Amino acid sequence: MAEATSVLHVSPVIPVVTIDDPQNAVPIARALAAGGVRIIELTLRTESALTSLKLIANEVPEILLGAGTVLTPGQADAAVGAGAQFLVSPGVTPSLLDHMLTLDVPVLPGVATVGEVMAVLERGLEAMKFFPAGPAGGPDYLAAIGAPIPQVQFCPTGGVSLGSAPDYLALPNVSCVGGSWLTPRRAVDDRDWKQITKLAQGAAALRAE
Ligand code: 3PG
Repeated sequence: MAEATSVLHVSPVIPVVTIDDPQNAVPIARALAAGGVRIIELTLRTESALTSLKLIANEVPEILLGAGTVLTPGQADAAVGAGAQFLVSPGVTPSLLDHMLTLDVPVLPGVATVGEVMAVLERGLEAMKFFPAGPAGGPDYLAAIGAPIPQVQFCPTGGVSLGSAPDYLALPNVSCVGGSWLTPRRAVDDRDWKQITKLAQGAAALRAE
């Protein structure tokens, strides 16, 4: 299993992207890359997600492509088979984590409590998704976790926006944030790829202090 910390340093924002129509997959990925964001967490929330994953993996090699919303070992296998270069789960179960750690890709497990952070740390992982970041306590909560457990780096996701991202990125235990705001449904429906590039430019300009 490769180390996931490097995944957190590709971009200040990991776009969480959900694609209904696979025809939009490559244009979305290219629009993000054109704006300077060269990473995607593509959620496995649609029937065609694996098709979109394959298309981006084959046609947009400049994107570091991850699969998100991984809930089962079977989904993890299918995602890696389709070309996912890293895996993200919203939470952890022992069996899902066991399985993901047998695969040769970085894994970002979702955590929301100190006990969950400790359980994942026990498995040797120091990079985690903090989800759902806003409802779970926001930057103050992460700052508090950083006191006893400074070695863990988080990607807070869930309720994060361009406006709130700097408060997270200012924390020493946050390397990047995640969010769906870079690919608004309206822009995708209108095939307004320029807007997605603009949003990516705004995200790429964010930097951890
Ligand atoms: C995720 O799966 O990470 C979230 O759905 C993204 O949350 P957001 O839509 O609030 O950015």
